[in-house]
Amino acid sequence: MSAVSFQQVSKTYHTSRGPLQALREVSFNIEPGEFFGLLGPNGAGKTTLISILAGLSRATSGRVAVHGHDVVADYAAARRQLGIVPQELVFDPFFSVREALRIQSGYFGVRHNDDWIDELLANLGLADKANANMRQLSGGMKRRVLVAQALVHRPPVIVLDEPTAGVDVELRQTLWQFIARLNREGHTVLLTTHYLEEAEALCHRIAMLKAGQVVALDRTSALLSGRASTMLRFKTDDPLPPSLADVARVTGRIAQIKAHDAQEVEEVLSALRLHGVAVEDLEIGRADLEDVFLEIMQDDTAPVFLDHPSPLEEVPS
Ligand SMILES: Nc1ncnc2c1ncn2[C@@H]1O[C@H](COP(=O)(O)OP(=O)(O)OP(=O)(O)O)[C@@H](O)[C@H]1O
Ligand SMILES: [Mg+2]
Repeated sequence: MSAVSFQQVSKTYHTSRGPLQALREVSFNIEPGEFFGLLGPNGAGKTTLISILAGLSRATSGRVAVHGHDVVADYAAARRQLGIVPQELVFDPFFSVREALRIQSGYFGVRHNDDWIDELLANLGLADKANANMRQLSGGMKRRVLVAQALVHRPPVIVLDEPTAGVDVELRQTLWQFIARLNREGHTVLLTTHYLEEAEALCHRIAMLKAGQVVALDRTSALLSGRASTMLRFKTDDPLPPSLADVARVTGRIAQIKAHDAQEVEEVLSALRLHGVAVEDLEIGRADLEDVFLEIMQDDTAPVFLDHPSPLEEVPS
């Protein structure tokens, strides 16, 4: 049985400016033990899908189940299986960190949880903040508390909606070590993030949402090798010829242009030479997930990739 199953989930919000379709027939399954990434630009529908999974919002049509428990008909059982780190910082300002975690344990009927709470605090770099009032914490520390709150009842399925937004580099590394350990111990993880290098390093499979639709779904390794797999990167102060400017990804002085094979590499280089573009620090490298993501998002005819039957066959070590 799948850990999480989305079946033809659609969601229409009724806004003052008329109906807004945030999700269109989204279907995919996440298997037990998977580390699954849900990616997409702002407004693609990621948080909407997670809110429906969490029972905070109702799908207009379709079904969602967690370990077989329907999130509407069998809400309490489904919710117990889930630990959700929300995108928005919501917290009760009146409690200390430890009190907040004890109260959250109580919601799930977990008693005598202080050993696990101490382990969470230690692993999330919060040990010295246990008695601090929530109001006294910085934004990044509040986010750490949200992660701890999501994990108090040791849920089999951990859902993280941009857990590293506004979090410093050191905690990002600590957080990922901890989540990766929980994943190795058997917890299923669903992650949304705009840090694509994190998704590339952590996720076994990735679904990409665009305007509420799944436009790609595959093993991370297959996504990386399937599309433009070579990138030319260089620095220049000169304008690119129009044929290249249209396809290049430019960040300040750095230009990146995809090339499918050696002949395309040669064509790019000769176009640069022909237009007298002075190139520094030229590198030819493999496309990363950001390249693949941008290519899929720019492609109006992006195919829906077929789901591979054995997602855990190729697990990054
Ligand atoms: N409560 C709401 N009422 C009306 N429209 C909403 C509501 N929540 C979200 N939307 C709209 O639904 C669409 C999807 O939003 P959602 O928050 O799911 O996107 P997202 O993929 O999580 O984006 P981000 O990366 O910015 O977090 C957007 O167009 C958003 O404006
Ligand atoms: Mg969101």
